[in-house]
Amino acid sequence: MISKTVLLLDENETSRKFIASVLHEKQFKVLESGSSKESLIIAWRDEPDLIVFDPILSDFRGEEFIQKLRQNVRTQDTPIIALSSDPNPMRRDGCMKAGATEYIVKSSDAVSVLGETLNHIFAVQTAAPVPVAAEPEEKREGLLIVFLSAKGGAGTSSLCANLAMNVKLHEPDARVVVVDLVLPIGSIGQIVGYEGKVNLVTVADIPAEQTTGEYFRRSLPEPELWKFQLLAGSPDPEHANHLNVNRIEQIMDTLCSAYDFVFLDLGRSLSRFSLPLIQRADLIPVIVSTDQSTVQLTKTVWEYLQSQNIDEQNIYAILNRAVGLEGLTKAEAEKIIGFTIKTTLPYMGSNFTLANNFNQPIAVKFPKDTASIIFKSISDEMIKLSRRLRAKDGLRN
Ligand SMILES: Nc1ncnc2c1ncn2[C@@H]1O[C@H](COP(=O)(O)OP(=O)(O)O)[C@@H](O)[C@H]1O
Ligand SMILES: [Mg+2]
Repeated sequence: MISKTVLLLDENETSRKFIASVLHEKQFKVLESGSSKESLIIAWRDEPDLIVFDPILSDFRGEEFIQKLRQNVRTQDTPIIALSSDPNPMRRDGCMKAGATEYIVKSSDAVSVLGETLNHIFAVQTAAPVPVAAEPEEKREGLLIVFLSAKGGAGTSSLCANLAMNVKLHEPDARVVVVDLVLPIGSIGQIVGYEGKVNLVTVADIPAEQTTGEYFRRSLPEPELWKFQLLAGSPDPEHANHLNVNRIEQIMDTLCSAYDFVFLDLGRSLSRFSLPLIQRADLIPVIVSTDQSTVQLTKTVWEYLQSQNIDEQNIYAILNRAVGLEGLTKAEAEKIIGFTIKTTLPYMGSNFTLANNFNQPIAVKFPKDTASIIFKSISDEMIKLSRRLRAKDGLRN
């Protein structure tokens, strides 16, 4: 049975996540959006089977949103449910007149009313009951963001940690985990000041049935100021030699289903076990520094990734001026490598290293620095992009 797709628009993220979980339980594929403009684009591009939205919008009136959908052939007949935080009967009338299929006020029984409405809509449409028993094929939910570079010193680990921290800063309810897979020595533990014993190598030695999502959420450290949870990397080459690599896939699967965001630092450890992780990534930030040799090596890595069916749309290249030299320009680097560079991070002088040495996020140590502002916008963009790619991917399957 092919599951139905629902576009869910709610500007309130907490509410949206909750409704999304209810719809997931009912076996819908959910395309989430927090913006009415974006929702119109998704609705017309992807033609979902159903649209659920809260008519309290900042861009335009809920009624107008419905009218726009009704005026377009692609959505003229799509069922639209207003799941509204406005109990006012005038609002209900307005929405129904504009063409809503149903108007449900958010209240304690909204979930059961929504369930009945969905049963009704789809029973009428397909004369078949909504499937309830089948397990969803893909349990994985969290977005996987895999950081790569072609050469050490490009800033991969610092960016991975700082961008993950920014995601948590702006989406405090999101579950975020950072995983350090750089071999033979991880460095994120050092950057965030974690000195404990829990790391990839020790976790991989625990039997698979014990390393559940619950286990990770309970046991992984949450370094002070950084807000995310950390699965630190191998502390030294000796440990790395003993890493039980067969366990990596299951550990990553579990983390992807237990967290909303999994940030993975692969550094330049391209290997047999890291390739499948790159292939399943929603977004692949590739950190490029401006020197000739890194740029040349990045070209080689990019050629290899293309040969392994990595699509450019998943690449999020960041040019990081990790050293004070001028180096190559963005345009020159793009020309050599052959992919588009999405954003550039300026040279921050010793501030960056200083923040790292103090085990502090840039956003905490230097909140007014341009880099803090750029980090925020990069992390916002990365979230948006990976969500959009995931929605697209969900439709292809
Ligand atoms: N934009 C930047 N400006 C100044 N220093 C930077 C910048 N980006 C990174 N660095 C510094 O470069 C060094 C290497 O960074 P790191 O994140 O360990 O790189 P990688 O993980 O790619 O080896 C660190 O000391 C970091 O503080
Ligand atoms: Mg590193």
